[in-house]
Amino acid sequence: LEVNLNEQISDVSPTMWGLFFEDINFAADGGLYAEMIKNYSFEFENPMMAWRRVQDQGAKGYVFTNNHESAQANQKFMTLQRLNEAGDFGLTNEGFRGMAVKEGLHYTLTFIARLAKGSDLEVNTRILEGDQVIASGSVGGFTSEWAEYEIVLSPTKTLDGVNFQFLLAGEGELEVDLISMFPEDTWKGRKRGLRKDLVQLLADMEPGFLRFPGGCIVEGYDLENRYEWKKTIGEMADREVIKNRWNTEFAHRTTPDYYQSFGIGFFEYFQLSEDIGAEPLPILSCGLACQFNTGEQVPIGALDEYVNDALDLIEFANGSVDSHWGAKRAEMGHPEPFDLKFIGVGNENWGPQYIERAKVFQKAIKAAYPEITIVSTSGPSPDGEEFDYLWGELRKMDAELVDEHYYRTPDWFLENARRYDEYDRNGPKVFAGEYAAHSTTVKEDFKRNNWEAAMTEAAFMTGLERNGDIVRLASYAPLFAHVDGWQWNPDLIWFDNLKSYGTTNYHVQKLFSTNPGTHIVPIRSKGKSLAGEDGLYASATIDQQTKELIFKVVNTSEDPQEITIELKGKFSGSEDGIWIEMASDDLEAYNSLENPEAVAPEQKTFEVNKKTIHLNLKGQSLNIGKLKT
Ligand code: AHR
Repeated sequence: LEVNLNEQISDVSPTMWGLFFEDINFAADGGLYAEMIKNYSFEFENPMMAWRRVQDQGAKGYVFTNNHESAQANQKFMTLQRLNEAGDFGLTNEGFRGMAVKEGLHYTLTFIARLAKGSDLEVNTRILEGDQVIASGSVGGFTSEWAEYEIVLSPTKTLDGVNFQFLLAGEGELEVDLISMFPEDTWKGRKRGLRKDLVQLLADMEPGFLRFPGGCIVEGYDLENRYEWKKTIGEMADREVIKNRWNTEFAHRTTPDYYQSFGIGFFEYFQLSEDIGAEPLPILSCGLACQFNTGEQVPIGALDEYVNDALDLIEFANGSVDSHWGAKRAEMGHPEPFDLKFIGVGNENWGPQYIERAKVFQKAIKAAYPEITIVSTSGPSPDGEEFDYLWGELRKMDAELVDEHYYRTPDWFLENARRYDEYDRNGPKVFAGEYAAHSTTVKEDFKRNNWEAAMTEAAFMTGLERNGDIVRLASYAPLFAHVDGWQWNPDLIWFDNLKSYGTTNYHVQKLFSTNPGTHIVPIRSKGKSLAGEDGLYASATIDQQTKELIFKVVNTSEDPQEITIELKGKFSGSEDGIWIEMASDDLEAYNSLENPEAVAPEQKTFEVNKKTIHLNLKGQSLNIGKLKT
């Protein structure tokens, strides 16, 4: 192999390796959003879903649903009516596939309440292990006006599978709503914030961008249930709860209790992007509901509302505090702009219906904000007639970035390592927006995130990197999954209510995103780039800031292979290089909550002798070499 340090092919996009977030697999509610109470506002279709009545023998009382007097996003509340003082009476909440607590941590329970009848009522809350109370707290002093109350709970044990109770003491009637509980150890300690361990896994990837809020969830099962960002900002009580798009028979596994509270709304997505140093990349509905579902279309003449959502979103992100939407951002605590650079129009939409609508968006966005880059979609399939049609039309429109998706077999990923070698350099650039190899070594439906998938993704990604002049963004998908609440697999990061881990695929993504370099240099074998010959795949970049050469070589063959890399051009380095290796002789090897590092990167060094590097690559390995030039 030969690397020419003087021949810089192109810059590497600073946003090259990023994240695709969608509220699928309990990624937001039950995952990243640290709220522990499910159906906290009683707004699910069945207001008692996730709640059950607690009523000891002898305790007399009733629980019923009511509606707030004025029409509002949060319409329902619960009335607890106690008719005697015998035994326990109240509610219990099941959490998101259970509930977990940590010893020594404070949990803040808040709710709003109004006294309807009686006096001296108290709310007693408890966290139990079986019958054993491991945390408790009380509050009283309710009045006939709605007000917020707070109880801090401090469990004496770390446990996944606790029981949470919200009990009423005294005789009378209390109306309650917005019962919410958060741990204190949220990301950056924010009130009603995000799960710290999960954000940390994202931050560790040093992602170039964060795409949100999905996926199919953008489009909605029908247009009424599309993602409307304006309904996801401001006070929680004003964020209307809707049925999650993945709570349908279309999901691989149905989850009837899956709703969107929008606790993570557009403000929080922008804030998260800023926190982890990623460019925000919002995707909006183009006026077509998910074409795999109802495929409902908004008539072109009625598209204004959708286009205005896009224009207003840009103002929300970038507008001055004197603008209407900029002021809303400031009210939420962020007067500085979020510096939005990209906006996506549609997700996996296809046909002339998409093109017609995309043109309307393009005209309006470019007229008002010529500096914003528009991301267009190429539909759900990475090839075929529909794909060619869309690319053809988008080329004619001078589209800037086209979003391609591929959930394919590991073989497809290997065979497509040259996919972008021949792409037209004068046309739109590529956003590899959703990809994952779906392993074929697994026989049952549960497609694991195993080494076969991760290694073939790595091989394919050398092709993305080699073609970094045209491929400007790339993200694995989906990002998160709760081990007991998923609809789609494989996924990059898995978690339960206490723990989380990065899959083999996570480590591969992280190795690429934390070792990007700034400029592509050629790595060739016999004058040609390497994409499959002898099972080897390679790419190389240099980092102009750190003056490093970074090369990535994947050996997909079962056997070890010796390679020699000759450095051409200006090289005056004298130190050993750093060699990060990730390998397994078992393609079915995978990480898990019990064994999170079963396949993980290891670091060693290599020598350089007179501009020559000899490496003995393990079979089935990803190797990253870094060297001061
Ligand atoms: O990532 C899961 C789904 O796959 C996304 O919602 C959709 O865009 C794609 O079909």
